[in-house]
Amino acid sequence: MHESVKNDKDKLDIITIDGPAGSGKSTVAKMLSRELDLKYIDTGATYRTLTLLALQNNIKPNDEPSILKLAKKSKIELESNPKDESQYTTVRLNGRDVTDDIRSSKVGAAVSIVSKLSGIRKYLVTLQRELADSGKAVLEGRDTGSVVFPNALLKIYLTAGIEQRVRRRELQNVQKGQKIDAKEIETEISTRDSIDSSRSDSPLTVPQNAVVIDNTNLTILETFEKIRDLYNERIHSKN
Ligand code: DC
Repeated sequence: MHESVKNDKDKLDIITIDGPAGSGKSTVAKMLSRELDLKYIDTGATYRTLTLLALQNNIKPNDEPSILKLAKKSKIELESNPKDESQYTTVRLNGRDVTDDIRSSKVGAAVSIVSKLSGIRKYLVTLQRELADSGKAVLEGRDTGSVVFPNALLKIYLTAGIEQRVRRRELQNVQKGQKIDAKEIETEISTRDSIDSSRSDSPLTVPQNAVVIDNTNLTILETFEKIRDLYNERIHSKN
């Protein structure tokens, strides 16, 4: 994908963070949203919501025409509340709060199949751009820097070693009161990464001109500070 603008002055005050599962994207994006007063957009939540919609209606996750038909009649809303850590993003599907439902293992298992479908991607990319219409936002996902906002002021590719990513997921699960075997988490993460990286439409990849941060040996706070400082430098040189 070509950059639509070359000059920082013309770039949007947007940070995109892409990377594999468990790389710390969500945690860091929320911290950036709070500190820099940016709207937080969890693009994965939009794919999860359409996956939930398909499952609730007994539609197979690869049945693109049926999912799309239903999606076009549905309303997906993301509401971010940076001040409230436990309710950071409320996701609504047709007015109903589905924030927890989209994190179920059933949705987790099917979301990579739904997110391979080009028509679905096109539909959701339009929605994600609309959600960020004010221009001051931080987006996280798999293609936010390569496809959704290639002209963002700062594009980050966040990654970490698989062992570290599994450990982080384990900790998140413990905090939620769930105990899932590490081997099971590793299989889930590796399977999802391989599907996300090998799909033909918008695969997980390092976006053009992105800053790559491997945070295997960094704390979340150090990762956040690195990105915050980069963003502040770019905003400073832009203005
Ligand atoms: O970030 P997450 O685990 O909630 O994302 C769930 C799935 O959605 C992920 O496996 C791939 C897909 N996804 C995508 O294809 N493109 C995005 N920009 C974000 C997520």
